[in-house]
This record gives sequence, C-alpha cells and structure tokens, in this order.
Amino acid sequence: MQDDGIPALRGWSEAELDAAFAAVAREVETSARALTSADEKEEFRLRWLGRKQGRLKAISDAWLKAAPAEAKKPLGQRFNTLKALIEARLEASSAATSMSVPDSETIDITLPGRRRRLGAEHPLIRTQHEIVRIFQRMGYSVGVGPEVETDYYNFESLNFPPGHPARDTQDTLVVAGQERKPLRERLLMRTHTSPVQIRTMEQQPPPVRIVIPGKVHRNDAADATHSPIFHQVEGLCVDVGITFADLKGTLDHAMKELFGSSVRTRFFPSFFPFTEPSADVQISCPFCGGAGCRKCKHSGWIELLGCGMVDPAVFGFVQQKQPGYDPQKISGFAFGMGVDRIAMMKYGIGEIGLLYSGDLRFLEQFA
Ligand code: PHE
Repeated sequence: MQDDGIPALRGWSEAELDAAFAAVAREVETSARALTSADEKEEFRLRWLGRKQGRLKAISDAWLKAAPAEAKKPLGQRFNTLKALIEARLEASSAATSMSVPDSETIDITLPGRRRRLGAEHPLIRTQHEIVRIFQRMGYSVGVGPEVETDYYNFESLNFPPGHPARDTQDTLVVAGQERKPLRERLLMRTHTSPVQIRTMEQQPPPVRIVIPGKVHRNDAADATHSPIFHQVEGLCVDVGITFADLKGTLDHAMKELFGSSVRTRFFPSFFPFTEPSADVQISCPFCGGAGCRKCKHSGWIELLGCGMVDPAVFGFVQQKQPGYDPQKISGFAFGMGVDRIAMMKYGIGEIGLLYSGDLRFLEQFA
C-alpha cells in the first residue's frame, strides 16, 4: 500500500473488507497520534475529510465503483464507521486550535476577572483644557494648526522679516533639504502657536476670538525647566475698538480663574515683532501671596505670559487674503502662555521631563 495510493482490496467478503478497513484505520490512528499543532490538525482534517481531494473520498470512490451491487451496502457502512473514527480522533486531539482552550487548561470561574486599569488625563492636557475652558466661558472658540509650518506662517507673516535678529531668539528646528525652495515655503517645526493667528484670520473676516492650544518645538537643550517640545496656549481677539484695557482685563480675569481670585497681575514693556506695544505679564506668586518664597525667587512675582496689541503690519499680511482686516478700522490683542510651566506650578512638578517620560508612577498620581 502506497501512502497516497488507494489501498488494495483483495475481495468483497466481509472478512476481506474488514481487513482492508482495519489497515486504513491503522493509518488514521498513526497520523492522528502525531498531531501537535493546530496547523497539523487542519492538515490532517483536509487530508482525510477534504471534500474534493480527501483520502476518504478517494478510497470510497475507487472501492464503491469497483464493487458488485451486493457489496455496496457493507462497504457504505464501513465507510461511515471509518469517517466517525477520523472525526473522533480530530475531536480528541489535544493539539491546540487557535480558537479553543487546550484541554489541559481548565477555567476557574471563581477567580476574579482581569481588571483593565483606567486611564487618566495627562497633567499637561488637563491644564491645557482648564486654560481653554476659561477662555471658552468668555466666548472664545478653539483654533488649531499644523506643527510642521512654513517659514511664512511661523515668521514672515508675523512680521519677522528674513534676517531679522528676533528670529534668532526662537532656536528653530528646520526640516532638512529645503534649500531649493523659496524661503517663505521652507518647512520648520513651529516655534510658537502664533502662526495659527494668521491661518485663522485668513479663513474668517473679523471679529475673531480664539484660543489656540498646541505643541511647539525649539532647539533647546533639555534641563529641569526646558524641553525641546513644549505646549502653548495662544489667544487672539480682533474687533472694532479693542484696546489695551481689554487685553489687561481679559488676562487679569483669566489668571484669577486659573490661580485663584486673590492673584494680581502686572504688565511690563516687552518686545514681540507681531505685537505693538508688547508686554510681559507677571502674576503675584500664588504660593506665598506675594510675600516672597523660593518658588518666586523671593520676588513675590512670577512671569507667565507674553502679549500685546496686534501689530498693524500683521493685519497687512492677512489683508492679502482677507481685506476686512483693515488696521484703520479694527484692532486686536494677542497673548501666549506656556502650558508646561503652568502645569508645573499648579501640580508642584519640579522637572519638565516628567511630563514627557511616560512614567506610570508619575502619571498615576493624576488619576
Ligand atoms: N509667540 C510668543 C512666544 O512664543 C508669545 C506671544 C504670543 C507673545 C502672542 C505675544 C502675543 O514667545
């Protein structure tokens, strides 16, 4: 008897049939015992029971065709028994299938289930949401923009002309291989969320009141308070008759919401190319109430924001697409704050790197 051939049948007597079927049954038993994997089991099933090329089908076709009429019934009965044997061996095989649990493993239903641990909002995102919500309550909506930005939106349209020294203060990470493009089209990692001011104004005529939360990138060496990736919330308000008093009132209110109603603000002259006049904003130290402590380096004040009145030159760039931003008719203010810094203050975090470490021991404290 050849492996793939049809076993020979000596005659049609019951004894001869029994002998022939016993030989095939032994073949089934031997290969069933050798099954070790789900793949082998499937192969066994196909080899014996396959509808077209299965061995059982081939043997029964050959034998039944040659059989005299009176032998067909005893042959048929024996084929049924043989098929049941093959199925029983398949069923009983301990080789694991992808679906079923191995026989050796029983399930103890008295054990507690595996608990999935609940996620928690990251302290940075939580702080960002908190800031955004304060402005939403004042009627601001949320704007977003790309992190990979063009030189035009990150700098030029914000009144940083090519070669202007103010560009140097931003330690820009530029995308390599852009030299063949005109400067304004070259790509970089945005160094601030301010380009979204321009993108938003290009999309809609005044009035505008938006906050822009987002990730920014600078070529800063990492230390306890610096990270090459950090987060800002930008704000922009443009309408008829917006003044510096509106800016002061808005930021003073926002800081009281964020740090408590006893917090005071003060404004110092500063410089940003896209605002004129510009200011840095300090808040009275929320830890010592202004008396002086380690957190505020004994000054009683902490610097937290940059802001100013939108420079008419910025409206000039926007007007190329939205003529409604006529600096003779409208005015506005903008501000930007660092979310990481604020989160670190609010939660007493001493190392900015912890915010980016993904360390569960740190993150679980905010659950
Ligand atoms: N974009 C400025 C920075 O990143 C912050 C700022 C925003 C200042 C809006 C003024 C107005 O330094």
